[in-house]
Amino acid sequence: MTRLAGKAALITGAARGIGLEFARAYIAEGAQVTLADINGAAAEAAAAALGPMAHAVQMDVTDQASIDTGFAQAIARMGKLDILVNNAALFTAAPIAEITRADYDRVFAVNVSGTLFPMQAAARHMIARGQGGRIINMASQAGRRGEGLVAVYCASKAAVISLTQSAGLGLIQHGINVNAIAPGVVDGEHWDGVDSFFAKYEGKAPGQKKHEVGAAVPFGRMGTAADLTGMAVFLATPEADYIVAQCFGVDGGNWMA
Ligand SMILES: NC(=O)c1ccc[n+]([C@@H]2O[C@H](COP(=O)([O-])OP(=O)(O)OC[C@H]3O[C@@H](n4cnc5c(N)ncnc54)[C@H](O)[C@@H]3O)[C@@H](O)[C@H]2O)c1
Repeated sequence: MTRLAGKAALITGAARGIGLEFARAYIAEGAQVTLADINGAAAEAAAAALGPMAHAVQMDVTDQASIDTGFAQAIARMGKLDILVNNAALFTAAPIAEITRADYDRVFAVNVSGTLFPMQAAARHMIARGQGGRIINMASQAGRRGEGLVAVYCASKAAVISLTQSAGLGLIQHGINVNAIAPGVVDGEHWDGVDSFFAKYEGKAPGQKKHEVGAAVPFGRMGTAADLTGMAVFLATPEADYIVAQCFGVDGGNWMA
């Protein structure tokens, strides 16, 4: 299909996982995509595998100069930017009594300021261009409720939902729709890392937590990155014109349960 023909998108954290799957889906719908990742070599390799509609930039979303340079390069190469997906994030877990300030700062820098300032860079370009745009922020079911071992990540994703609400309200006057997606538990390298935290703090065997969370999803299994692409494409199409400042769960019923 070509629902995004002629569109130009930038996806942060797109060298692997969900962001990479979104890049694949956007290209399949006719868009050009810049894969922006702190791991520039992995972004280059992923873009090369995706073909001529994919570009790569090395970008650290915690660093303003890197954001400025990365957006400038992406816009120069694609000619414009219609769609931003703020997808880069870090996970962390620790009992409340063991959380360190350094870990809090590291995770908030990527997940929260690393959402706000790329959103600002995209908004400045989109406002100046005067043709609107789409911004999709990756939240999480973790942003909708706390977890005893996951305070910092949960709070960071609650902040992403709040930023989506404020930016959604502040930018719709420019024709820029800002919305978020809240996945549940999505299999991949990210969750391998999550599993190892639970192995450490809950004394579980490697892979055990992953098996347990998958079995607990009402749909009957963990999600895959491909389960999320329908929402990511839809939110970028004109069919979503009237959707503003929302956060959509795509989680097999996990959060509701
Ligand atoms: N996997 C899940 O179960 C799950 C559940 C809910 C929400 N999410 C959210 O979905 C998004 C994608 O998750 P994923 O599973 O693909 O994660 P992932 O860890 O597989 O990929 C994250 C990517 O972000 C990049 N990155 C990290 N720090 C960066 C920085 N400072 N600047 C630029 N890039 C950086 C990494 O190099 C990596 O390529 C994240 O926002 C995550 O919080 C994931």
